Formats: sequence, C-alpha cells, structure tokens
Amino acid sequence: MKRIAIFASGSGSNAQKIIEYFAEAENTEVSLVLSNNENAFVLERASSLNIPAYVFDRQLFYETEQVHDILRDIGIDFIVLAGFMWLVPQNILSHWAGRIINIHPALLPKFGGKGMYGDKVHKAVIDAGEKETGITIHYVNEKYDEGEIIFQEAFKILPKDTPESIAEKIHVLEHKHFPAVIGQLVDKLDQE
Ligand code: GRF
Repeated sequence: MKRIAIFASGSGSNAQKIIEYFAEAENTEVSLVLSNNENAFVLERASSLNIPAYVFDRQLFYETEQVHDILRDIGIDFIVLAGFMWLVPQNILSHWAGRIINIHPALLPKFGGKGMYGDKVHKAVIDAGEKETGITIHYVNEKYDEGEIIFQEAFKILPKDTPESIAEKIHVLEHKHFPAVIGQLVDKLDQE
C-alpha cells in the first residue's frame, strides 16, 4: 500500500477530489490530511470522508521534528500540497525528496512566488493582459512555486473573464488532472 499525506490550509476541494479518487484505488490511499489552520474547511471534508487529520502551528512545524516524525511513523510515501500556504521545512523536503508536489493556479514560472495565491494570482494575470492561464503541478523545493514543473494545462482568457470566473475554470481543471497526475507519480514509485 502506498500512503499519501495531503497538506491544505483552506477549503480543500482538491484534497476532497484526491481522497475520493484514491478511495477507489487498491494499492494507494490518502492516510492523513494536515493543516496549519484549525478552522480550515478541509478538516471538515476529511472528517466526513473518514480520513484522519492533524493540525499544527508554526512553532511545531519549523522548530520541532514532530510533523516529520508523524509522516515517517505512518509510512507516508508521497506528499501533496493542495492549497497549503507555508514553505515546507528542510527535514521534510530531504526525507521526501522528489516525492512532494504542489498545484499552482497559473502557468508557472509566471505569477508564482510569495503572496501569489487565490484571486491575487488571477487579478495579476488579467492586469498583465495575458492571453491564457492555467494550472501547474510541480515538485516542491525550499522556495515558493519554483520546483521542477511536472504538468501544465492552459486555457484561453476571454474578454468577459473575471478573477472569479477564472478561479472557477481553474478549479475544474485542477479537479480533473491533479488526482490522476498524483496517481501516475505514485505508481512510478514502485519502479524506483
Ligand atoms: C487551488 O486553486 C490551488 O491551485 C492553490 O490553492 C487552491 C486550493 O483550492 N494552490 P482548494 O482549497 O483545493 O479548493
């Protein structure tokens, strides 16, 4: 059995799609949802889907080994960031090197970096007069949104598009592709 942990700070619609996708899988499961935000809706989603959840604060995450140790003790093989707002500390990056990915709601390397999240991304895309936008799935390193790109899908921006309409289209694409891309990467772990 391959075990996935999902980190999320907010609503968790991607986390839910990933959990549902692997609920059908024979050899992979989402074993834990982790959040830095005790009020995040993702925790309610995890609870309704019967997935254990763990909440931590900044001090615990950056100044102790506790999150690392929990992931190791459960035997987590693969880590997914799905709307997670903090940088991942080095102890976790090193242990799961090449096995931590993130999804970003724009076509990196443009429109990424610290503070570039949610509608801010879509506003920046529109303000820059971009003709298209899309989603990027990438490996995670010690900087925001700079790890190697794994997958992108783009769509054209229409004159009537707003940050809200773009956000909706982005979510549709994310929900369609993120679980399947995770599945492919997890399957490849077997061959390593
Ligand atoms: C997604 O758009 C993702 O690209 C970004 O954060 C958002 C999370 O959405 N990193 P949700 O919480 O999964 O609905």
